[in-house]
Amino acid sequence: MTSGKQEYQKILNQIQQEFSEIQLSGKVASYIPELAKVPSDKFGMHLYDLNGENYSFGDSNERFSIQSISKVFTLALAMKVVGDDLWNRVGVEPSGDPFNSLSQLENDSGIPRNPFINAGALVVADVLVSYFTNPKAALLTFLHEITGDTSIDFDTTVAASEQSEGYRNYAMVNYLKSFGNIENDVEKVLDFYFHQCSIAMSCKELSRAFIIFVNHGNLLDSDREFLTGRQVKRINALMQTCGFYDEAGEFSFEVGLPGKSGVGGGIVAVHPNHFAVTVWSPPLNPKGNSALGMAALERLTTLTGYSIF
Ligand code: DON
Repeated sequence: MTSGKQEYQKILNQIQQEFSEIQLSGKVASYIPELAKVPSDKFGMHLYDLNGENYSFGDSNERFSIQSISKVFTLALAMKVVGDDLWNRVGVEPSGDPFNSLSQLENDSGIPRNPFINAGALVVADVLVSYFTNPKAALLTFLHEITGDTSIDFDTTVAASEQSEGYRNYAMVNYLKSFGNIENDVEKVLDFYFHQCSIAMSCKELSRAFIIFVNHGNLLDSDREFLTGRQVKRINALMQTCGFYDEAGEFSFEVGLPGKSGVGGGIVAVHPNHFAVTVWSPPLNPKGNSALGMAALERLTTLTGYSIF
């Protein structure tokens, strides 16, 4: 077991080296046409620790489509604004099904199993669309505040690309609405959802944004509390149990950290009280999670000895 300053950088260098020699199988997401254009060999990693130190390699400063990682930010915002009422409309159990599955909704009366599957994230989006006059601006403001970077923005080309082929999410919102679990106009909810997924951020920016989940709801350099300790505990629990859909068990087993993936190939993981780490590699495994990203994080927790288990 090892930890500490230069050790993190040494370990990241080792991970970069090891995976430059190994070819993992995986496929860049193509159901969102714009994502298929991203080169498959992008690979970067960034770790931000509680001392405010940064460690990284590769394409860690290049922005990519955060996709489902955005569901952590929207969940945090929804928990802030509506509190525990949220849990009347979305559950907290792992689904064991793919991220875009509709099948459980029928037996569950339109209550999605958790906020990270698409159905749950669409209900969370509806909550934000109801609460804010301008939900897109509210989401960006939240991100600007927790990263200190006001240039973080939607990629409207990616949002339009997803919308053009978004048949399954259209079906999902309509189905949820038929159960009474969507308050707003379907188009409005989907427009917000496609935009939240299109946000472009780098590994470095994501690690900085996730420090609030490492540091009990606070940034490192300000006393402002963005989330309460109770909210952070719950969000981390949901990342641990549901962050990787029907691969949440495997991620816990191999990596042992709360985390969230996106079909842009990003994965963010947190070790409460220690660090936030982001890895980006676009080719996905069959469950829709970055193949190399999972392997790299397994190496990180093995080499540092820092998993939560
Ligand atoms: O709704 C979708 O299908 C995408 N915008 C996001 C899916 C996603 O990132 C799943 N995660 N691995």
